Amino acid sequence: MQHPSDALLLFGATGDLAQRMLLPSLFGLDVDGLLPNGLTIVGTARSDLDDAGFRAVAASALERWIDADRRPAAAVTRFLERLRYVAVDASDPEQFVALADVVGTAAQTGLSIFLSTAPSLFGATITGLNRAGLSGPNVRLALEKPLGGDLASSREINDAVATVFPEDRTFRIDHYLGKETVQNLLALRFANTLFEPLWNAAGIDHVQITVAETVGLEGRTAYFDGSGSLRDMLQNHMLQLLALVAMEPPAQFDATAIRDEKVKVLRSLRRIGTAEAAQNSVIGQYGAGAVAGQPVHAYLDELGKPSGTETFVAIKAHVDNWRWKNVPFYLRTGKRMPSRHSEIVIQFRPVPHSIFASKGAVTHPNRLLIRLQPEETIRLTMMAKQPGLDRAGIRLREVPLDLGMLNAFADTRRRIAYERLLLDLIEGDPTLFVRRDEVEAQWEWVDGIRAGWIANGMEPKPYAAGTWGPSAAIALTERDGVHWND
Ligand code: BG6
Repeated sequence: MQHPSDALLLFGATGDLAQRMLLPSLFGLDVDGLLPNGLTIVGTARSDLDDAGFRAVAASALERWIDADRRPAAAVTRFLERLRYVAVDASDPEQFVALADVVGTAAQTGLSIFLSTAPSLFGATITGLNRAGLSGPNVRLALEKPLGGDLASSREINDAVATVFPEDRTFRIDHYLGKETVQNLLALRFANTLFEPLWNAAGIDHVQITVAETVGLEGRTAYFDGSGSLRDMLQNHMLQLLALVAMEPPAQFDATAIRDEKVKVLRSLRRIGTAEAAQNSVIGQYGAGAVAGQPVHAYLDELGKPSGTETFVAIKAHVDNWRWKNVPFYLRTGKRMPSRHSEIVIQFRPVPHSIFASKGAVTHPNRLLIRLQPEETIRLTMMAKQPGLDRAGIRLREVPLDLGMLNAFADTRRRIAYERLLLDLIEGDPTLFVRRDEVEAQWEWVDGIRAGWIANGMEPKPYAAGTWGPSAAIALTERDGVHWND
C-alpha cells in the first residue's frame, strides 16, 4: 500500500516521546517539503487542551529540541497550522467519535495512526478506533514499544491489533531501524563486493555489538524497573542489529524480502536456557559512581526501593546456521557506562600464515568497526608497513581506513531516526518496521534467557556507575581470548 496519508493521528501527543522526537521530526520533514501538502496532524492525549494549547506545547517542544537556525519563524507557523488537538481518554472507546469528526474524510482516503501510549491502552484504543470508523482499508497503525513484556503478552497485543488491523497495515516501530548507520549496514554489505565473501564463519572470528548509555533511569522508574536492559534494549534494538549483520542477502530491497531474511536469523539463535544462562550471560546493576566526572547515585537510590532489575546485560549468542556456525556474537548494553557509544565490531580471522613473523613483525587480524552513535563512522583496521629501511626487522602497524560518514556526506543533514520512520509510515512503506514473526522470535529467545536466570537464581552483579559493567562481563569474552572494544 503506497498511498500517502492525508492525516496523521498521534496518540500520546503531549508525552515525552512526542515532544522530544515526534513533533521535531515532523517539523524537520515539513521544513524540507517532505510531508504531503494537505497533511493534518491531529494530536490526542488525556490533557484538556484545545488546538491553540496543543500548538503552544508543540512550539515549545520545537524551541527546546531544534536549533534556532533550523526553525525559521515562517516554517514554524506553517507547521503549527497543520496541528489539531482532541482530548480523549483512550481507555474509553466512546470518546473516539470526536476524533473521527476531526480526522474527517482522511479515515477513508488515507490515515496514519501512531500510538505512543502505554501498551495497557492499546486494546481499548483499537476498539475505540474501530467503533469510530478509524480502521478502514486506508488506515495504517504504528505501535511504539514496549510490545509486551514476554512472548505471551506480546502475542496478546498482536492478536488484539490483528482483530482490526491486518499485518500489512501494522507498523511496529524499532527506532534503531530509522538510524542512518543501521540502514547503511545494508549498503555496506550488499552494495559492495568486498566483504560478502568473507562474511561468514570462515572469515569472521566473532562479532561484538555494544549499546552503551551514560544515562540512568531518566525518570522512567516504573517502566524500566519492570523491564530491565534485556527486555528494554536487547530484545528489540540489539537483536535487530544482529539480524541485519547476520542475514543472508535478500533478493530485493523490499519489506518482505528483508524481513524474511531477518526472521530466519532470529529463529536460528541458539537457545540459551537453564543450562547455559549462567555461562553465557551476565547481568549487572549500577551502584554509585561517576559519569563524565559527575557523581551519580546508585540505581536503587534513584529508584527508592530494593530491586533485582538489571541495568546491564552481556550475552554470548550464536546463530546456528551454515554461515555462522560457532561464531560468537557478544552483545552488551548498559546504563551508566563510561561513554555513550553504540557500535558493531566485526572481527575478521587472522591471516592463515604470516610471512612477517620471521622478520619480527606481528600481524593483527582486520577489524571492521561500524559506529552508530554518537558519531557515525565505519572504520576498517588494516595492517600496513611502517615506513623505514627495516634494518632491525619489518615493523607493521594497524592503520584505520575511515569512511567518516560526517565528512563524506557533510552537505547532508543528519536526520532524527523518527523522521525516516514517520515519513515511511505516512507513505506506507513497511520495510523498516518490524513484522510480527520477528517480534515473536525475539521474545521467544529472550524468554528462554529470563527463564534461565530465574531457574539459576541469578541476581544482577553490582558495578560502579561509570564503568563497563561487572567484571564477569569482561570474563565472558576473555575466556575466549576476546577483548571488548571499549
Ligand atoms: C529506548 C529505551 O528504546 O532506547 C531507552 O527504552 C534507551 O531505555 C533508548 O535509552 C536509547 O535510544 P538511543 O537512540 O538514544 O540509543
